[in-house]
Amino acid sequence: MLSDMRRSGPEAGATPQTLYLDLLKRSLTRTLFTAQTGAANRSKTSRAVRWTLRHVFVPAYVATVRRVPAIHRVVGPLERSLRRLIGSDPFERAEGRDWPADAETMIGTIRLDHLQTCCETVLAENVPGDLIETGVWRGGATILMRAVLAAYGDRTRIVWVADSFAGLPRPDPARFPHDQGDMFWAFSAELAVSLDTVKANFARYGLLDEQVQFLAGWFKDTLPSAPIERLALMRLDGDLYESTMDALTALYPKLSVGGYVIIDDYGALASCRAAVHDFRTSHAITDPIGQIDWTGAYWRRSS
Ligand SMILES: C[S@@+](CC[C@H](N)C(=O)[O-])C[C@H]1O[C@@H](n2cnc3c(N)ncnc32)[C@H](O)[C@@H]1O
Repeated sequence: MLSDMRRSGPEAGATPQTLYLDLLKRSLTRTLFTAQTGAANRSKTSRAVRWTLRHVFVPAYVATVRRVPAIHRVVGPLERSLRRLIGSDPFERAEGRDWPADAETMIGTIRLDHLQTCCETVLAENVPGDLIETGVWRGGATILMRAVLAAYGDRTRIVWVADSFAGLPRPDPARFPHDQGDMFWAFSAELAVSLDTVKANFARYGLLDEQVQFLAGWFKDTLPSAPIERLALMRLDGDLYESTMDALTALYPKLSVGGYVIIDDYGALASCRAAVHDFRTSHAITDPIGQIDWTGAYWRRSS
């Protein structure tokens, strides 16, 4: 109903680029339709049931089933249907705290907004190099990177899309003690997204072309020999100490001065944070770390 809709026209200063990218982000996060159609059209009973499921059942589920991979493997397929039924919490989606049922990215609008700003900055300031994400899941953040290049008419830079496309590796505690006990590898039902699916997600937005290159395999095998000359932005989202360290070791030497390092799991995962600190210490990096939201962090290379 019109009376239920908040007035929200384009922001002052909106350009065709920002309007396109805003719409894309709402689609990638599946926040596009929930505000107007979802909540407003539901009955009071249905909203009460959803509220109870979201605020009572989901926390209990996450605290129990998600911690026991054997059980999760059995009920995991049901989880996606349940999440569709419940719908997503707009605040959780904005902050990228959930594993959404359909969205092409789990990182939320705050980190997507920040990623867009970083991409726009390297274009505006002519920081040389390509863009990469290590750990892409369904590909949403890299789709946004490709869209920024398209929106501003860049025909020279590549978006590198690096993932096993088979989920996380089992921890190797002998080499990386910080990863001891990590269980993300067991959640392949949720975290393993095939290369074909990610390509199809790019194609859905009309953004699968020669400016997108895929690096399929474990980071330790693909990144050191990847045919990347220079990077202007590296976004690391591989969760583990090993995955973060492998990406920093292989890619940071290729990052241009003025380029960005974005670490998705810096706040959320102590193992990832430890890899960042160890790498920065061993390479005498003192560029200040900025906070994006409750977990995302970044720095800009100054030398
Ligand atoms: C949390 S998800 C990434 C979320 C994604 N950036 C987004 O926008 O929604 C982590 C991803 O990292 C990948 N990954 C983690 N460690 C890896 C490794 N060592 N080699 C290859 N892929 C890895 C997993 O397959 C998974 O797709």
